[in-house]
Amino acid sequence: MNVTFRQLKVFEAVARHLSFTRAAEELFLTQPAVSMQVKQLEQHIGLPLFEQVGKKVSLTEAGREMQFYSRAIMQLLDEADEVLDGLRGGERGHLALAVPSTANQMTMQLLAAFRRRHPAFTFSIDITNREGLLRRLELNECDLVIMGKPPEEANLDAVAFMENPLVVIAAPDHPLAARTRIPPASLKQETFVIREPGSGTRIAMERFFAGHGWHPGGGMEMASNEAIKQAVEAGLGLGIVSLHTLDVELAAGRVAVLDVDTFPILRHWYIVQRQSKRLSAVASRFREFVISEAGTVWHTPGGLRSGKAAAVPAG
Ligand code: PGA
Repeated sequence: MNVTFRQLKVFEAVARHLSFTRAAEELFLTQPAVSMQVKQLEQHIGLPLFEQVGKKVSLTEAGREMQFYSRAIMQLLDEADEVLDGLRGGERGHLALAVPSTANQMTMQLLAAFRRRHPAFTFSIDITNREGLLRRLELNECDLVIMGKPPEEANLDAVAFMENPLVVIAAPDHPLAARTRIPPASLKQETFVIREPGSGTRIAMERFFAGHGWHPGGGMEMASNEAIKQAVEAGLGLGIVSLHTLDVELAAGRVAVLDVDTFPILRHWYIVQRQSKRLSAVASRFREFVISEAGTVWHTPGGLRSGKAAAVPAG
């Protein structure tokens, strides 16, 4: 295909903004120059890439295909740049991380400790849930991801580096907060506030409930750990969250961790990359740092209570 990099770059910007004007602004070009590049690309391809109804620009089917490939080409070029920078002994690379909000506090501590050793690198962090993270990996939109165990069939390189215990939390004045060795069956009468579909915490929680033959009702679903903790603190119900999200709440006594038999559900944090990904120097240093030193940088809030069995297989 006889297309130029400039045409691809212009096309990618128009496709991302769905606007010729905004693409022109981003690329410091005039709008006619942008339209000309797109037109030439369409001529090479022999198919229209955009359709315009009134002021609304949308991608044609060919445009959507082209967007997928042009993004992949840009990302590979960025990757080449970073890898070559590493070969030149550069410390300046960029690290594109994606993490779940559940691992947010831990990630910030890890990044801060890493940056004390390598102050020159820049980074960006995309924060989403498990489903979003798997998508970022599939589209090659980041260097590394921190998440619960990824599915085998996703062809990813994943190394476990830390335990991720999930616990049941309640408002401190909840009657169960004073009890010990609560049998899981007693939770059946309780109302739960639960995470959104696509959350790894939610999948583990559903597995736990299914293992005990029930499904938590209540109809209270929230797309963030922060919202779950606030709802629990306000007395709306019980929640199941990672201990790693409870640093502040436990210190301030805003929620109580219930002593439920078979809890915590023991999951693990993994550092994950695409199998074919060539990591930049800074990304591979960060990966090594996480695998070897995360345990000394970050300690699970509240600590793990001993003598508890995992309720579901580790994930
Ligand atoms: P979350 O956690 O999706 O529940 O935020 C990520 C994970 O467990 O993989």
